[in-house]
Amino acid sequence: MDLRLKGLKVAVTGGTRGIGNAIVHLLADEGCDIATCGRAPERIDAVARDVAAAGVRFHGETVQGRDGDAMRQWVRNSIKALGGLDIFVASLSAGGGSDEERYWYRNFEIDLMSAVRGVEEALPTLRQSQNPSILILGTMAASETFVAPMAYNAIKAALITWSKQLSQQLAPEGIRVNCLSPGPTMFKGSNWEMIRVARSRIYDNAVRQQPTRRMGTAEEIAKAAVFLASPAASWCNGAHLLVDGGYSKRVSF
Ligand SMILES: NC(=O)c1ccc[n+]([C@@H]2O[C@H](COP(=O)([O-])OP(=O)(O)OC[C@H]3O[C@@H](n4cnc5c(N)ncnc54)[C@H](OP(=O)(O)O)[C@@H]3O)[C@@H](O)[C@H]2O)c1
Repeated sequence: MDLRLKGLKVAVTGGTRGIGNAIVHLLADEGCDIATCGRAPERIDAVARDVAAAGVRFHGETVQGRDGDAMRQWVRNSIKALGGLDIFVASLSAGGGSDEERYWYRNFEIDLMSAVRGVEEALPTLRQSQNPSILILGTMAASETFVAPMAYNAIKAALITWSKQLSQQLAPEGIRVNCLSPGPTMFKGSNWEMIRVARSRIYDNAVRQQPTRRMGTAEEIAKAAVFLASPAASWCNGAHLLVDGGYSKRVSF
């Protein structure tokens, strides 16, 4: 299947590690020009080197996701560097924690507002694209009782709801908005790798809940994400796709 991604310009927040990074790699392999951001300069440099091998244009910047002005500036710089924008992917996340007050602010500012600000800044340029789409990364933990009450889970639920509302608002303009919620996903340096060492009971329990008895990989999530964001998914709009290997037990009608 031709995803019709070749030559499209894509901005991926948090594309320097894990799932965001796997999305960046797949998109570059499909011939997309890529912009991404994260905090660590050495990780931006590493992505630049990897993406260069695919022969596409790349723009990477260090950005602190909770800094609204910096986030908006990164989007503007990306559009300038790539010469436009067709797809915006919000993958950046501060990760889980607890439901202490400071985590509510952290996930609100970093997970939620980086996506909201990024989309706002990208919209005028997406409106000029022939194949515009927005993809928001949620989490299975927003819709499933999971580990413990966490600000992260609830803030991600807000992102999922917001993406649905956006899809209704933007569809008349031809802009598709979808959300993909991964289940527990393992990769080198992931939170789950740390949990496996530091809190093995939580890790073992998560694996037991998986009917496949294994965690997903970043590449498995990225394949679904890239399809949803691509022009090949032209009739997918307002979708919330759970990609969790069957972790969640409820029946979705
Ligand atoms: N992994 C899972 O099991 C899982 C499950 C469900 C949902 N998800 C969702 O899938 C997405 C990707 O998850 P992941 O596990 O691949 O994440 P990750 O490994 O924690 O990577 C997060 C990315 O965001 C960047 N980042 C983190 N905090 C930042 C900040 N304050 N400012 C700027 N950049 C920041 C990181 O780069 P720097 O560290 O260099 O800043 C990195 O590129 C997230 O939205 C996550 O909520 C993941």
